Amino acid sequence: TGPLRVALLGCGTVGSAVLRLISEQSEDLAARIGRRVEVVGVAVRRPDHHPDVPADLLTTDAEALVTRDDVDLVVEVIGGIEPARTLLLAAFEAGKSVVSANKALLAEDGVALHAAAAKAGVDLYYEAAVAGAIPLLRPLRESLAGDQLRKVVGIVNGTTNYILSRMAETGAGFTEALAEATELGYAEADPTADVDGFDAASKAAILASLAFHTPVSASDVYREGISAVTATDVSRAAEIGCVVKLLAICERVAGSPDGADGDSVAVRVHPAMIPTSHPLAGVNGAFNAVYVEAEAAGQLMFYGQGAGGEPTASAVLGDLVAVARNRLAGAAGPAVTSYAGLPARPIAET
Ligand code: HSE
Repeated sequence: TGPLRVALLGCGTVGSAVLRLISEQSEDLAARIGRRVEVVGVAVRRPDHHPDVPADLLTTDAEALVTRDDVDLVVEVIGGIEPARTLLLAAFEAGKSVVSANKALLAEDGVALHAAAAKAGVDLYYEAAVAGAIPLLRPLRESLAGDQLRKVVGIVNGTTNYILSRMAETGAGFTEALAEATELGYAEADPTADVDGFDAASKAAILASLAFHTPVSASDVYREGISAVTATDVSRAAEIGCVVKLLAICERVAGSPDGADGDSVAVRVHPAMIPTSHPLAGVNGAFNAVYVEAEAAGQLMFYGQGAGGEPTASAVLGDLVAVARNRLAGAAGPAVTSYAGLPARPIAET
């Protein structure tokens, strides 16, 4: 059989790591999938900024690339809502499966994207969109699908966790710590997405929708960032045996938004003081961790690198292998099309 042909959209920190890993691990990937993986095109805005990518792969016409007949699978690591949404919808329409790392898009439009993928009978996987390398979305969506989740609490933004950790460890100022995080490749191009909690809110929405099998979008999430956290807050917290963390909290709560009986889902992102004995308190630097409480499973902790090119690329490649195996088996992966879950609570009520 011929190779699995991949179109890569975007070649920044994550995209270039994806390209490198596909090349370095080509033998192992071929063995695991049963077909070679071949990148047939890389869509970028400025080809002259990518001297390491073979020139014949580079294109500025992403739309033409995703609909090309010789493309089996689209990997989207552009980020942001547009043009990514249009490109993903075009890919589904053309019968291509998609692996995406795009938390903002999935958090805003996950329901419509899943519906488009299901209609086309193709896959949509996005493990890299939340908590980088940590296997988390498939465990929530699949491994825990037979359980009832009570609570998902996470440190899901590496930049702010790095900043808060540095402030606690060294007394470093906010600006200095942010500059270090940017230098290390953790921060978004525009760090307000990190600092003001938008990045964490997108991830919280995705976590809540998978954990509670219900549509939750970023606009359902109460959000507060860390820009008002001072060095004094951090040192006062330490004096009383606490640390300050930016938490994404997704909870099943009693009562429904429309006043009917039954539970609903409340999702919020804000800085919180947690005692040093809490499992999330020791999560420092750019690491992410997500704590889950489920009826039957009890307490679970997921921990690892939540940002950076290679860790995020690891999750992208895992999805790529999963999609490839599905396609070769003639199956589509777990669809998230019919939600039978709990309503999301309006922000004002949380
Ligand atoms: N800027 C994000 C973070 C990157 O700091 O966690 C990973 O999504």
